[in-house]
Amino acid sequence: MLEKTKKELIKAAFEAQKGAYVPYSNFQVGAALLTKDGRIYKGCNIENASYGACCCAERTAFFKAVSEGEREFRAIAIVGKAKDALRFDYCAPCGICRQVMAEFCQPENFEIILPKSEEEYQIYSLSQLLPLSFTSHNLEE
Ligand code: THU
Repeated sequence: MLEKTKKELIKAAFEAQKGAYVPYSNFQVGAALLTKDGRIYKGCNIENASYGACCCAERTAFFKAVSEGEREFRAIAIVGKAKDALRFDYCAPCGICRQVMAEFCQPENFEIILPKSEEEYQIYSLSQLLPLSFTSHNLEE
């Protein structure tokens, strides 16, 4: 991925975080998802009084993109911190979000970017974060 694209994606994740609706956890997460064609979909976490109805930022971004017809993705940047925390720490995606990524992304090529700031970040492939995943291949006869 071009350095310029990566920077843009990271910036978009920080912007997305501002939209988080988190009256229960106060933990604000933002995600920015890059499609194969270079479009960026932003998502934030959206909580609910019935806690099981909460949606993570990553899934908000994926479901927005997929509902708009997108099917191929290159990377996602994810940032998160408690509302009153002074700085960001790495915010790795939860297991359910990793499974949603596995539905649409190539495990070796899809990049998961975890920034602490616009300059400091870690990058993992989906196969590193979700080895031996259950996918549509398992359902083939
Ligand atoms: N959360 C995300 O949005 N993404 C993750 O990968 C981890 C957790 C949200 C869910 C909930 O709104 C809050 O963070 C605390 O768990």
